[in-house]
Amino acid sequence: MDNLITLVNKLQQACTALGDHGQESALPTLWDSLPSIAVVGGQSSGKSSVLESVVGKDFLPRGSGIVTRRPLVLQLHRIDGKTEYAEFMHLPRKRFTDFAAVRQEIADETDRETGRSKAISPIPIHLSIYSPYVVNLTLVDLPGLTKVAVEGQPDSIVQDIENMVRAFIEKPNCIILAVSPANQDLATSDAIKISKEVDPKGERTFGVLTKIDLMDKGTDAVDILEGRAYRLQQPWVGVVNRSQQDINKNVDMIAARRREREYFANTPEYKHLASRMGSEYLAKMLSKHLEQVIKSRIPGLQSLITKTIGELETELKRLGKPIANDAGGKLYTIMEICRMFDGIYKEHLDGIRPGGEKV
Ligand code: GDP
Ligand code: NA
Ligand code: MG
Repeated sequence: MDNLITLVNKLQQACTALGDHGQESALPTLWDSLPSIAVVGGQSSGKSSVLESVVGKDFLPRGSGIVTRRPLVLQLHRIDGKTEYAEFMHLPRKRFTDFAAVRQEIADETDRETGRSKAISPIPIHLSIYSPYVVNLTLVDLPGLTKVAVEGQPDSIVQDIENMVRAFIEKPNCIILAVSPANQDLATSDAIKISKEVDPKGERTFGVLTKIDLMDKGTDAVDILEGRAYRLQQPWVGVVNRSQQDINKNVDMIAARRREREYFANTPEYKHLASRMGSEYLAKMLSKHLEQVIKSRIPGLQSLITKTIGELETELKRLGKPIANDAGGKLYTIMEICRMFDGIYKEHLDGIRPGGEKV
């Protein structure tokens, strides 16, 4: 099954790399049919922090105010070996091994599109992380929802951000990570408000509660975490991310995760929930959920892929052989990936996993 997620990852990458060339074919539909996970919530609710903890790496710009100003499509690829590296789609031949440089490049690439203003842009930045320590996932970090424009921003920004977020999460294949801070009333949560609009039954929404450590003394989040305050089909997960002070002091991810584990295990109110709280648990649960979603979508994906292969073959014929240009090469790649998918699907039909295990 892991193979299947990897393959979907590759398909997503190939669809994106193909860009404009795919516009007239089934490719955009194919891309929309592939499941991904989008992180939504109010500004400074902890979205980027949650993403980083799920990945287990420091690489995102974080802080107060509007930091995330373009969608970041993040693909995690699990690989063998010990080396970890990152690649941006806009810098195809550059391998980043220094994750501080990844953070800087996200900031620079954001500015390249929006200028140094606080403006936003719907054009995504595509980043892939290859590591033996990640689970195979595609995650999208989105700008935070706000209620008012700040100095230097047009008044339309509030609505623009909302529209951008909605465009991502209204697709039925989008899994929503709705991030709400525990130190604010859940009834005012931007994440809950917008996800309720597009997923009223809460079938594809995961509630993530951040800043549990910052709640008022004498209050706790048990009612929310046990699903009584706001019911979703999926379980709520509470997390404790690093505070701004931790970030300033360079508290590393390993220490932060250990502290998070200890927090849930040692706080009397949450002790009984500790095994299903925290970022590591969230990452595993999401990967498992994604597997299930992909599995259930295989037949639909399959017919789209057959259609795509057909269209790509026609397109390749039109371009003629030998394929000298870049587009031809990319078409070839995506066709190869589609064929691999085809193969795995057939094995799946036989009830056999790629690894030989019975499904
Ligand atoms: P985003 O704007 O939603 O992406 O939020 P960020 O991830 O950038 O976080 C905003 C601020 O809240 C940062 O200073 C984080 O350190 C802090 N923060 C996020 N989550 C937590 C948490 O669980 N506990 C504490 N104490 N601080 C947090
Ligand atoms: Na922020
Ligand atoms: Mg952010």
